[in-house]
Amino acid sequence: MSETFEELAEANDGQSTGPERVILVPSVGSFSGEKPMLPVASLPQNCSAEVLAERNSELAQAQIDNYYDDTVLPGAIVHGNMYSEDVIGNVNWNLRGTEEERAAMAQEDDFGVDDADPGEDAIDLAEPVVSYVQKHWASLLLSGGFFNAAAQLFKIIYTNVADNLGKPLNELSFKLEIIDPILAFIPPRSARNLEELNFFPDNDRFPHPAYDQEFRDDDVMGWLQVAPVSPDFDQFSPYTEHLDKFPVTNAMFRKQDGFGDDDLDQAMSEGRVFITDYAEYNEECTAPSTDDGYGAKLHAAMALFAVPKGGDTLKIIAIQPTQNPAANSLQMIFQEIGLGDKSNPASQILTPKDDYWSWQMAKNTFSSMTSMSAVLDHLGGHVYLGPIPVAFYRTISDHHPLTALLETHFMSLIDNNFIGIFTEVGTGTFGTPTAGEFHGKEFGDPTNGLLTGAIERLSGFSSESFLAGTLKRANRFHFVRDSTPVDRSSHPEFDALGDYPFHDDNRSFAVIKEWVSNYLSLYYSSDTDVIEDSELQNFLWEVANEGKVNGFPETAYTIEEMVDTVTRIIYWMSVNHALDRFPSFMKLGALGYYDKNLPRPRGWLDGRSEKDWFNAMPPINVGLGLFVFSRIFVDLPRDWHRSLGKYPQGQFMHDQRIYQHLSKFQSDMKALDDDIRQTNESRRWSCEIRMPSTLTVSPWN
Ligand SMILES: [Fe+2]
Repeated sequence: MSETFEELAEANDGQSTGPERVILVPSVGSFSGEKPMLPVASLPQNCSAEVLAERNSELAQAQIDNYYDDTVLPGAIVHGNMYSEDVIGNVNWNLRGTEEERAAMAQEDDFGVDDADPGEDAIDLAEPVVSYVQKHWASLLLSGGFFNAAAQLFKIIYTNVADNLGKPLNELSFKLEIIDPILAFIPPRSARNLEELNFFPDNDRFPHPAYDQEFRDDDVMGWLQVAPVSPDFDQFSPYTEHLDKFPVTNAMFRKQDGFGDDDLDQAMSEGRVFITDYAEYNEECTAPSTDDGYGAKLHAAMALFAVPKGGDTLKIIAIQPTQNPAANSLQMIFQEIGLGDKSNPASQILTPKDDYWSWQMAKNTFSSMTSMSAVLDHLGGHVYLGPIPVAFYRTISDHHPLTALLETHFMSLIDNNFIGIFTEVGTGTFGTPTAGEFHGKEFGDPTNGLLTGAIERLSGFSSESFLAGTLKRANRFHFVRDSTPVDRSSHPEFDALGDYPFHDDNRSFAVIKEWVSNYLSLYYSSDTDVIEDSELQNFLWEVANEGKVNGFPETAYTIEEMVDTVTRIIYWMSVNHALDRFPSFMKLGALGYYDKNLPRPRGWLDGRSEKDWFNAMPPINVGLGLFVFSRIFVDLPRDWHRSLGKYPQGQFMHDQRIYQHLSKFQSDMKALDDDIRQTNESRRWSCEIRMPSTLTVSPWN
């Protein structure tokens, strides 16, 4: 953690540049650098006086460079200084030592993927645009003004691609600036067929969700509860009491296939009924949204699910799109002509036995909220975890064994959070900050960052609502509770469910813990070592009390407590940072519902058509924009690219004893991945969210 700006920029692209280039260092994992081998690790109480003086001096400077800020984002604590060398020095995938030194070391397993290679990451945002326009040029051409628009869009894309060849730092500016040209130059009309809602290029680098071909099958809804989109999904729970706000009747229940001779109360008492309720986002859903002409809405929907007698597969029973039950159709009709209470919109319950297209649309009111909820989980997780590396940079010296173990797990987190929330795209703020005036002045409007600013054009939330939802989520996380995998043997409330990949596949915690335990045992031989380690104790205390990371233990008295906390840090940075590609899948996972009226259950006058369904989907310009935008968070460029289990080559070269433990950790991760892959073969649809090969080593994307 000791580079200068110039050294870092040099490592990035071989050009010596000033600080403005460093700020452009990408936060989506494209680049690698090189750093010196770490010093031999020791605990502060055991090292020589000379080393102690060195580490104390390093930390004295680190405490000046790194500080907490609770003013720029009310409700959260962020790193206050993006010019900190510790922040800048931990943006890239930094190989340790020189090439010669690494070659002389034991061969490290790269799982067949060179993590220092940016791979397709840089171009995969242009590819969907080119591919989509190629596939649909004829129908796009017929959408007025397309020829001129397409020419301009292609000019932007190819100019950027050409400009970026050999200049990796510029690629980020291309990535950030592509959304608005897409919105402007692709026609803002509804899709006319399903293929027009398919933004996935036809190749292996853009895998479709497993259920793509069967997305209208009602069982997809049940599957998304047991194989969810976000690792932090917790709105699914047993339904044990009737809710006034969701008046599902026994008659509705019994009408569904497989439940004809069943009884709702009996099923509830037998633990076979479940609910997913997005009530927590009702305020954001009912707040005024930005009128951008696209008409996106989001609804705090709820859905009831049940397992049939003698079965073990979750079936969807009913959906109510909003929190307020409508008394009857008349109330809905009044609402549609503007006579309802907009602050608390009413809706009726729909079931699979209602009008076909109304039911399909009801599923989209629910699934669009599923998608947004997952995105809020994701960014909320980034914000929640942000203070941990601040404390780490301030309290843990390069000589401390936690540096080699943890720094890779913090890679890009601070930088990503800053760009996503505070960096206004297309302004001087992004490209040309000047040293010394960064703090305060250069934290832009938090509703206009890369993510927070673009989201209102691509979703049913305003930027303000999106940020509010993110902070709400961040403040609801608990460090221990939400990093404790559910052991189904002690959770009988889920016994009715057969295959439950969300929990059944979540087996990496024990593997991480063994690695952490083995690694730390090289340096700590007793609980006293833990208690007397001032750097460790300061780190824990600061995360809990200065960083205010909810639920974080402020001390450790034993090796076991220390191992537990360090394991959870790694788990949060990787397993809990996953995000499925659902927000790229417009047929269900768009971040908005584009019909101003809510579907109603009956047929005839209330019934809907396929055309209505297409009109409730995002216009194709928004769909393509959201697809491209979502690629920044979802999917790795390929399996095992900077994934959980990987560290930069040379990261542990200062202590050869580590390699035996690293090797065990890596082979266990691969075995777990293979095992889940095999289980997926026997599933109707595969579930990838718990596969180590798909999990990032840190929140770098
Ligand atoms: Fe992320």
